[in-house]
Amino acid sequence: MSAKKYLLSTFSVILFAILAACSAPEEAANEMDEFTFANYDAIVVRHVDLDLDVDFDNKILTGSAELSLEILKPDTNTLILDTRDLAIKAVFTEASGGWQETGFVLEDGGNLMGQSLTIDLPEGAAKVRIEYQTSPGASGLQWLTPEQTAGKEYPFMFSQSQAIHARSWVPIQDTPAVRFTYSATIRTPEALLALMSADQDPYTPRDGEYSFEMPQAIPAYLMAIAVGDLEFQAISDTVGVYAEEYILAAAAEEFSETPMMMEATEALYGPYLWGRYDLLILPPSFPFGGMENPRLTFLTPTVIAGDKSLTSIIAHELAHSWSGNLVTNATWRHAWLNEGFTSYVENRVMEEVYGKDRAVMEQVLGKADLLETIAGFEDPAMSALVMPYGLNDPFEGFTDVPYQKGDLFLRYLEQKFGREKFDTFLRAYFEEFAFGSILSEDFYSYLDENLMSPNPGVVEPEVIRAWIYDPGLLDVAPEPTSDAFTLVSETRAAFLAGEISATELGSEAWITHQWLYFINALPDDMAMELFIDLDTTFDLSVTANAEIAFAWYMKSLQAGYLTVVNPVEEYLIRIGRGKLIYPLYQRLVDLNQRDWALKVYQKARPGYHPIAQARIDAILEL
Ligand code: BES
Ligand code: ZN
Repeated sequence: MSAKKYLLSTFSVILFAILAACSAPEEAANEMDEFTFANYDAIVVRHVDLDLDVDFDNKILTGSAELSLEILKPDTNTLILDTRDLAIKAVFTEASGGWQETGFVLEDGGNLMGQSLTIDLPEGAAKVRIEYQTSPGASGLQWLTPEQTAGKEYPFMFSQSQAIHARSWVPIQDTPAVRFTYSATIRTPEALLALMSADQDPYTPRDGEYSFEMPQAIPAYLMAIAVGDLEFQAISDTVGVYAEEYILAAAAEEFSETPMMMEATEALYGPYLWGRYDLLILPPSFPFGGMENPRLTFLTPTVIAGDKSLTSIIAHELAHSWSGNLVTNATWRHAWLNEGFTSYVENRVMEEVYGKDRAVMEQVLGKADLLETIAGFEDPAMSALVMPYGLNDPFEGFTDVPYQKGDLFLRYLEQKFGREKFDTFLRAYFEEFAFGSILSEDFYSYLDENLMSPNPGVVEPEVIRAWIYDPGLLDVAPEPTSDAFTLVSETRAAFLAGEISATELGSEAWITHQWLYFINALPDDMAMELFIDLDTTFDLSVTANAEIAFAWYMKSLQAGYLTVVNPVEEYLIRIGRGKLIYPLYQRLVDLNQRDWALKVYQKARPGYHPIAQARIDAILEL
């Protein structure tokens, strides 16, 4: 290359970099969701009316979805929707007074994205009605046989739409950038109750036909449905719990502080805008801890520990009523706007309701998880708050990074500007963007205008941009320390040194967090006598606390403490919550125990959710 050419190309690289840096905000403003087929820049769905039969014999939903449309670009003559394994029977449009059948094309877009449904829109069409049915393998639904429920008498079905599984049960613009209201009529076997993420009367007669109205506009990933032999118990006038009977009273007791959490969150961030707040306890195969479906949080039963020690999950899902459900990430790359803000609000609420000590313990555990996660990444881009383009599934981006790094970033801002100013700012932010879908750059601009510019010199813009866009964790990240954990560390050291035995730990008043902290830092080569001492003293291998059991199993397997083998098998068959089972399968593979893992999986797999099945298939390389 000639010197001149070289100079020129260096210059153009620099110029390009400068341009790219300057134009980031404009680019961001036009950022389209890469995980949807929808032409939502031209036309948007504003209301959905569902009419569905729940057919347990065939494990399908069948009926219709009527979509009301708003045309943004006047010459638009097609509507492109997301679907996944839906059988489309017919499509009708309503224009100039009458319904008529219209043409459509279903085109496969691969495993992840599903099929695009392109519908011909005659001039002036403002509604389409799609007659369809789901497939028994729908990725967003789980169908349980009566034997797979606690009551053993009736089947159960529930949805999990986030991130892009709504399309497997509703033909929709499946992107968080689009919001719509919805209504629904759901027909079920007469003995069962249907629930949705919508307005519902807890005392509705059970007659097999249920109507729902969701008057607030929500993105598709917050559409939810569950059908089963469910009972209701009130916790307050506006808060209650739905569950199978076996666990209803225990759940109502475990989550009795939910109304206090509600008060605390409202006091901090403004009124709860969604009407009722109910909890639905799902069967143990529910693949997540919790899911913030509006008005009706879906929950795993594995957080019912009997001592209210795992209730931060309620604070979390409730917090989503502000961060996520009210102010939503416009594309999944910006999921930290949902999960990081929610983790921050969760911790603030925990502090209000349970005090600083517990809140700090949760911060310490969260940061430790984050550091471990970041250390394990091959691609550093995964440790930036804004995820890279081109992930195989948006769910890949839901690591500890958006949750814990997002939380640390907001706590950094809180520390810098002071709690009072930051609280006022956050409250105003939720109000400003309520019922909107935004990008990180929108947050940055709002922060700049409302906190940085009015308080010059408190933070450096470059540092703030590094928090948002750069990989890794900055040195300025908050460093929580917990006195309770320091005591646990000392106790652990004395136990490992043989100075005290398990009966002398002084652990009578430990809550789950302290146990997790104690177990997680036991050395992998700890002597077998010490495993046995702990196990015979505290029955850890058969503890009913699913989180403690998980930590104990991970450690025991690693160390070759084989007493846990049968309990682990039983655990993996009983529980389908990803966070608790994926790492166990992975550990077994890493320990060259794939054959054994496979044997257990063969028994467990039929009880797992399709999402969990896909994930564990991959871990076991099936
Ligand atoms: N919205 C998430 C669950 C989710 C994320 C489902 C992405 C599908 C795709 C929910 O709010 C959540 O974060 N759940 C956590 C619990 C929380 C306390 C960290 C979970 O399920 O473990
Ligand atoms: Zn969340």
